[in-house]
Amino acid sequence: MTFSTVRISLLAALLAGLGLGACGDDDGTEDAASTGAEAPPEFPEKDWEAEASSLLTGPEWYRHAVGYEIFVRSFQDSDGDGIGDFPGLTSRLDYLRELGVDVIWLMPVMPTPFVDSGYDVADYEGINPDYGTLADFEAFVAAAHERGIRVVMDLVLNHTSDEHAWFQESRADRENPKADWYVWSDTPSSPDNGCGTQNPVFGSSAWELDEARGQYYFHRFYAGQPDLNYRNPEVVERTLDVARFWLDRGVDGFRCDVIGLLHESATECELLPETKDYIRQLRAVTEEYDDRVLVAEPSDLTDASPYFGDGGDMFHMAFNFAYGYFWGVYFAGQTATSVEITLGNSLARNPPGAQEALVIGSHDVRRAYTAGLGDDSAQLRAAVIQLTAKGTPFLYYGEELALRPGEQQIVDLRDAQRTPMLWSGDAGYGFTSGSPWLAFGAEAEATHLEAQRGVQGSMYEAYRALLALRRGRAVWGTGDAEVLTVDTDAVFAMRRSDAFMSYLVTVNLGDEPVTASVDAPAIGSAPAGLVFGEGELVTAGDTAKATLPGKGAAIFRLR
Ligand code: NOJ
Ligand code: MG
Repeated sequence: MTFSTVRISLLAALLAGLGLGACGDDDGTEDAASTGAEAPPEFPEKDWEAEASSLLTGPEWYRHAVGYEIFVRSFQDSDGDGIGDFPGLTSRLDYLRELGVDVIWLMPVMPTPFVDSGYDVADYEGINPDYGTLADFEAFVAAAHERGIRVVMDLVLNHTSDEHAWFQESRADRENPKADWYVWSDTPSSPDNGCGTQNPVFGSSAWELDEARGQYYFHRFYAGQPDLNYRNPEVVERTLDVARFWLDRGVDGFRCDVIGLLHESATECELLPETKDYIRQLRAVTEEYDDRVLVAEPSDLTDASPYFGDGGDMFHMAFNFAYGYFWGVYFAGQTATSVEITLGNSLARNPPGAQEALVIGSHDVRRAYTAGLGDDSAQLRAAVIQLTAKGTPFLYYGEELALRPGEQQIVDLRDAQRTPMLWSGDAGYGFTSGSPWLAFGAEAEATHLEAQRGVQGSMYEAYRALLALRRGRAVWGTGDAEVLTVDTDAVFAMRRSDAFMSYLVTVNLGDEPVTASVDAPAIGSAPAGLVFGEGELVTAGDTAKATLPGKGAAIFRLR
């Protein structure tokens, strides 16, 4: 039996900051590293930029894309009012290109009284004047498309703002043409709707008395967010038209907010058959256009599989929150079992064709830095899994800088993760020449982009390296994924393979250095090449032995 070993002692400088780092050249080719005792493996290479263009063209583009969630209000201000806007965002598109972003997800950008940061829409066919005009939005979409970046927007269909004209009409009396467009009841409850809210963010009751109409309306979220009544066919038609309105303006798809909650019954609150019917209609609308996608925000945080339908009739993508919202807990326990179960469950449950959207943070949950308990390497190891598991990753703006949480609260406690982007060490951190609408996050001096760009060991450069490693390689988007059995609790191992290449991803959730035996059927004994991080791999037959530093991660190319 022959053995192959690749031992890595390089990268000391690179690893200084995070305990992790990258190898490979800036041109994106992957060098196999070695002690010199044996020849480094030579892997077949391609023109990865050309591959990327081809993979990102056509209806399957989203499987190969890297996504990036943006809160326009906090990304870049252009006019000194302290509020981010579309001209500002447009001016930062080259940055997103540099980072390796292929699709932007915009949090809601429509006019809003802002009781839920824009998830309370007052006009479905306009742009929040704080952010600019419809023309500014269209110019932004065009500029993004020129750079090969697509744009997906948040579509909030479950509810509107109470300031929306539809609700204003509906609440006026019980006979008006929109009287039945919302969910009304004579009592603060309904035999047809057993769904309440006990979420501390949104309050305890889901029913609000409207004095004018003398009835209660149902709101799954804040009282300023009355739920639309999808049993009314006009609501169905009118909201599908909203989707067409934006598709006509060139958007590449929608992130569908709490889309499982459209219908309620006495006993069921999520993804009722009627809701699935609506989703299929929405899918059919997107199919009227080329290459558009729908991304589901599931309300069930443990299983997104029902949102894919048969794999072709509901969502193109759905978020995996079982990993995305809970990885911090798994890492705190220093055992990989929950990560294995979570990712293994997805692979087992999802129908063929399903593509998960993978996150480690968002506008709703703590910053990844905080979820990792302030340990940069926990965030980065979580990102290694996010960026190599089967699915489409979505970074949350500023995650690539490991932005720290803020303290000021204007809307609600989630403002901690919605602070303005930090571009430079200048006054206003390059975000604004004025006073920011929300105070910057902690440790701004250390985390802004200019403090990290080009700095070995920085979070930013680690993200850049990871995204460069993905670029143009179809295996990450569509290759097979195997969660491998490991003899050591702390170590997570996954193999990704397609006809052209194969990678082994290993992550040590523990603080201690470890050598783990990985059950990797038919891994053979060809030399492996370390392409990211730090570690050593010895392969033989059906087993790989991975040696990783404490809090370490390593990605090996196998062929
Ligand atoms: C989910 C969104 O992500 C969250 O921010 C919002 O508060 C609720 N939906 C209500 O729209
Ligand atoms: Mg502004």
